[in-house]
Amino acid sequence: MVMASDIKEKIFIGVAWPYANGPLHLGHVAGCYLPPDIFARYHRMKGSDVLMVSGSDEHGTPITVTADKLGVTPQDVVDRFHGEHARSLERLGVSFDLFTRTTTENHSKTVQALYLRLKKNGYIYPKTVEAFYCPACFRFLPDRYIEGTCPHCGAEGARGDQCDGCGKTLDAAELKDPGCKLCGGTPELRETEHMFFRLSEFEKPLLDWLSDKNYWRPNVLNFTRNFIKDGLKDRGITRDLIWGVKVPEEGYGEKRFYVWFDAVTGYLSASKEWAQNAGAPGKWEEWWKNPDARHYYFLAKDNIPFHTIIWPAMLMAHGGLNLAYDVPANEYLTMSGRQFSKSRGIGIVVDDSLDKFGADAIRYYLSSNMPDQKDTDWTWEDFVLKNNSELVGAFGNFIHRVLTFTQKNFGAIPAAGKVEKIDERFISEMARVHAAVGELIEKCDFKKGMREIMALAQTGNKYFDETAPWKLIKEDRNRCAAVMRNCIKLVKALSVLSSPYLPFSAQRMWEAIGEEGGIEKACWCEATANLRCGFELPRPEPLFGKLDLEEIIGKPDEKAAAGGGQADKPQEGIGNKTGANADVKESPKVENEAQCHPFSKADMKVAKILGIDGHPDADKLYVMSIDVGEGEPRSLVAGMQPFYRKEELLGQKIVLVANMKPVKLRGVPSQGMMLAAEDSHGTVAFLAPPEGSEPGDSVYVAGALKTPEQSLKYDEFAAVKMNADANGNVTVAGAGKGDAAMLRTEKGLISTQRKVDAGAKVL
Ligand code: MF3
Ligand code: ZN
Repeated sequence: MVMASDIKEKIFIGVAWPYANGPLHLGHVAGCYLPPDIFARYHRMKGSDVLMVSGSDEHGTPITVTADKLGVTPQDVVDRFHGEHARSLERLGVSFDLFTRTTTENHSKTVQALYLRLKKNGYIYPKTVEAFYCPACFRFLPDRYIEGTCPHCGAEGARGDQCDGCGKTLDAAELKDPGCKLCGGTPELRETEHMFFRLSEFEKPLLDWLSDKNYWRPNVLNFTRNFIKDGLKDRGITRDLIWGVKVPEEGYGEKRFYVWFDAVTGYLSASKEWAQNAGAPGKWEEWWKNPDARHYYFLAKDNIPFHTIIWPAMLMAHGGLNLAYDVPANEYLTMSGRQFSKSRGIGIVVDDSLDKFGADAIRYYLSSNMPDQKDTDWTWEDFVLKNNSELVGAFGNFIHRVLTFTQKNFGAIPAAGKVEKIDERFISEMARVHAAVGELIEKCDFKKGMREIMALAQTGNKYFDETAPWKLIKEDRNRCAAVMRNCIKLVKALSVLSSPYLPFSAQRMWEAIGEEGGIEKACWCEATANLRCGFELPRPEPLFGKLDLEEIIGKPDEKAAAGGGQADKPQEGIGNKTGANADVKESPKVENEAQCHPFSKADMKVAKILGIDGHPDADKLYVMSIDVGEGEPRSLVAGMQPFYRKEELLGQKIVLVANMKPVKLRGVPSQGMMLAAEDSHGTVAFLAPPEGSEPGDSVYVAGALKTPEQSLKYDEFAAVKMNADANGNVTVAGAGKGDAAMLRTEKGLISTQRKVDAGAKVL
C-alpha cells in the first residue's frame, strides 16, 4: 500500500550551524536563518515532507579561543550559548524540526562511523606532517591560532584556516610570516601524525556533479567551479587538541577531528537524532537515501566551499547518501557598511531587537532587504521607513481598514454578490500573485516574493479607494457587502502568502477572519479558497506599530536601540565574542562620521576598585585590582597618588579604557587606563559613572558607533578630545550634537567625581 507520506515530496533543509561562542545577531538571521525558514514554512504548506535541521557548532577553536580568553571551560561557553541560540531562534519563529548541538553522543558516534566508513572505502590515510608548535605556549597551534600573510592574495592577518581577504581556505603552513595568536611569538614546525581525507580524488566527480547545477546562484556555482579547478588537495581531518570528537585510532588520544569534518556531519547526525526522537529511528533514510528527496543548504557565503565541495565529497566517499540539490548561499548583511561579525562584535543582537520590535517587524525588513544577490545594508533609517510606510502604512493599513469597516457595518463576513469588472481584475490579480509568490519562494527568490506580497496589499488599498465602500454603504448596501467580501478574500490571501515571512501576524489575520487552527497547518492553496461566510468578526486590533526613529536613536538606554547594548551584561563572566573586544556595542545611529571618529575605537567600561596599594618603585603611582565584570579582576596602575588618598579610591567605581594596550609601568602590569579630568588649576577628578552602574557596563556616547580595536594605542586614544562641562559631565568633541555627545552608561551621564572647572581636559 502506498502511504500518503510516501508520495509527498521530501525536502531536506540543512542550515549552517552557528558557533556557540556569542549571541546571534541580525547578520546571521538575514544570511542563514530567515531564508530557510521561509522556504520550510512554504513547503510544509504545499504538503511537502520537510526536515529542517541545524544546531550549535560547539567544537573548534572559535570555542576554545573564547574559553581561553575568559578562563572558563569550553563546556561552559557552549552550554551558555547553545541555550541562547535555541531560544533566540525560537522567538524569531525559525521553525526547525530539530536544533541540536555537536556535543551530543549521537553526533560523536555519527562522525566516527562516517570516518570509519570513509576509511574502509579507501579515502583516509595517515601522514606525518609538520605542524606549528609554539615553544612558548608548549602546544601545537590550531590553524586559527596562527596569523600571517595570505599566499594567494597577500592580505595580512589571514588566519591559518581561511583568508578573509580572498575567501580561500588555507593550510597554516602556506602562510607567510606566521605568528602565534596566543603569545605573539614565532611558532616552529614540528612533526605530528594526522589522518587525511583524499579530497584530491574528487575533482572529477565533483565537476560532473556540478554539470547540471546551472540553476544555482551564479556566485555559488562560479566560486565552486573555480575552487575545484584551482586543484583540490587532500586535507588533514584531525588536529592536535583535546576539545572535539575523539578519533577512533590508536595513539590519537590527544587528537580530535577537525571541527569542519565534525560540523558538516551534523546534518546527518541531526537527521538521525530527529528520527530517534520521532520514535522511528530509520526514518532519516527517507530523506538521505531516497534519490527523489531534495537537499537544500542555507548558509552565508564564507561557508560555501564546505557545503559545495568538502561535504559533497565526504558524502560521495561514503556512498549511498544524497548530495545537495541547491546551496542558495547568501551574501552579507552589513551594518552601515561594515560586516556583521561575531568575532569582531559588530552587529545587532537578535534578542535585543526582538524585545524592542517583535519578530515580524524584523523578519519583514530582513526579507525585503535580504542579501540574496549582493550585500545589503542595515540602517535604522531604512528599517523605520520600511516598517512605517510598507508594513504599517500599506499592508497593516489594508487589513485594518477592511476589518474595521466590515465589522462596524456588517458585523460578519458578508455573502457573495454580483461580480463586476473591477472585481474580476482584483480577484485575478490575487490568483496571479498567489502563483508568483510560490514560484519565487521555490526559486529561493525570497526578496521578490515579499515584494509581490506587498504590492498585492497595495492593490487592495487601491481597490478599496476606487470602490469607495464608505460611499457605497449609503448608496448600495449590497454592492458594498460584495466589495467588502472581496477585500476579506484578500485578507485571507495575504495571511496565507505572508505566513512564511510573517508567521505571527499571519496567524492573527487568519484568526481574525474566523479560520481555525495554526495557519502553518493550512494548505498554500487556501490563499484563494472560500471564506467562512457569516463569521462574526471580532473587534480588530492593529497588526503592526509605527516606529519612531528619534526614539530609537535618541534613547540609548533602551537596550535594543543600543544595538546589542546588553551584549556584555548578561554574560556574567562569560564573554560573548571570540575576539578580545568582547563588549562591543553598537548604537543605532550609524553615520559614517561616527564610525570614523577616534572615539569609536575605544572600549570604555565601568570598573570598580577592589584593592589599592602604593607602587613599590614609584611614589606617584597606585597599583589597583579592579573588577571589570569579567570574572577575573584586572591589574591597573594609575598616577593618582598626588590627588587621592587610598581610602578615597577604594571601592569606588571608575571609567576604564578597557582595550588599552596592556603595558608594564615600572614593572607592574596595567591592563587599561583610568579616566580623569584635569583643569587649568591642576585639580584632578576621576570620572565617575552614574548611580546604579555596574562593573563591565559600557560607557558610550549616544549615537556614536562603538567598534573597539582589540588593542588601542595610547596615541590613538589621545586623539579623542573630551572635556568636562559646567555640570561636570563629559562631552566628546565631534561625536555628536549637544547632549548626544555626552559620555554615559545605560543608567545616565558620567560626571567628574569632584568639581573641576568647565573645560577641564579628560585623559
Ligand atoms: N559554525 C560555522 C560558522 O559559523 C558554520 C558551520 S556549518 C556546518 O561559520 F556545515 F558545519 F554545519
Ligand atoms: Zn605562543
